[in-house]
Amino acid sequence: MNILLFGPPGAGKGTQSSLLKERLDMAHISTGDLFRENIKNKTELGLKAKEIIDAGNLVPDEITIGMVEDVFTKLNKDFILDGFPRTVAQAEALDRLLEKKNIELGRAIFIQVPHEYLLGRLTGRRVCTGCGATYHIEAMPSKEEGICDKCGADLMQRKDDSADVIETRLEAYENSTKPVLEYYRSTGKYVEVDGTGETEEVYSRVSKVLD
Ligand code: AP5
Ligand code: MG
Ligand code: ZN
Repeated sequence: MNILLFGPPGAGKGTQSSLLKERLDMAHISTGDLFRENIKNKTELGLKAKEIIDAGNLVPDEITIGMVEDVFTKLNKDFILDGFPRTVAQAEALDRLLEKKNIELGRAIFIQVPHEYLLGRLTGRRVCTGCGATYHIEAMPSKEEGICDKCGADLMQRKDDSADVIETRLEAYENSTKPVLEYYRSTGKYVEVDGTGETEEVYSRVSKVLD
């Protein structure tokens, strides 16, 4: 089943996607991860996106849609789209893309987490510079502080995980992404999942939706 994962910054989209990818052998397409990879490799796309992302704003639709279209040309598994579509224009572009490729969308899953949890989740997040694994200093600490359990590389904080940038990201979510939820509500594919509690509890709720 092909799914979309929605939720505010810090809701756990990436964390749940990693589990789904690992356990159900799905393709994980995260536009945030794709942008960060392009920034790391200093590609033309990365150079265009860097300042916008560091400031917590949304990258323009045409750049983002082009990047996703590109990924779809190489896709050979059921997918999880994490962080896309984030605007109604992106949702419309995705509909056109899926229709052209004759791909059916299964569910649009919204991971619901109350606002007051998000700041703590984001400021406590640590990300591996080697393999991209995600940790949290309290909820999911690495065995050795600052070192990735999986690959031994250093952990770092995302540049957009500072309190002032988080505020801008939350605003972008309220203004641009909330309307996308309404868009999917009308399709009958929309489902809400409680994103609080342990990661595994959330996973079992998400996987129940896929059954
Ligand atoms: P993106 O990387 O997608 O950021 P985001 O949407 O703000 O979401 P996050 O990745 O911050 O949160 P998450 O939900 O994945 O949470 P995670 O699982 O890591 O996008 C970054 C930027 O790229 C955007 O701001 C924008 O500029 C640009 N961009 C991306 N897509 C775009 C688009 N379509 N259009 C335009 N621009 C776009 O979890 C967070 C923390 O919480 C972790 O530390 C984790 O360990 C912890 N945690 C997870 N689950 C739990 C739990 N159950 N209990 C306790 N802690 C938990
Ligand atoms: Mg993420
Ligand atoms: Zn690692």
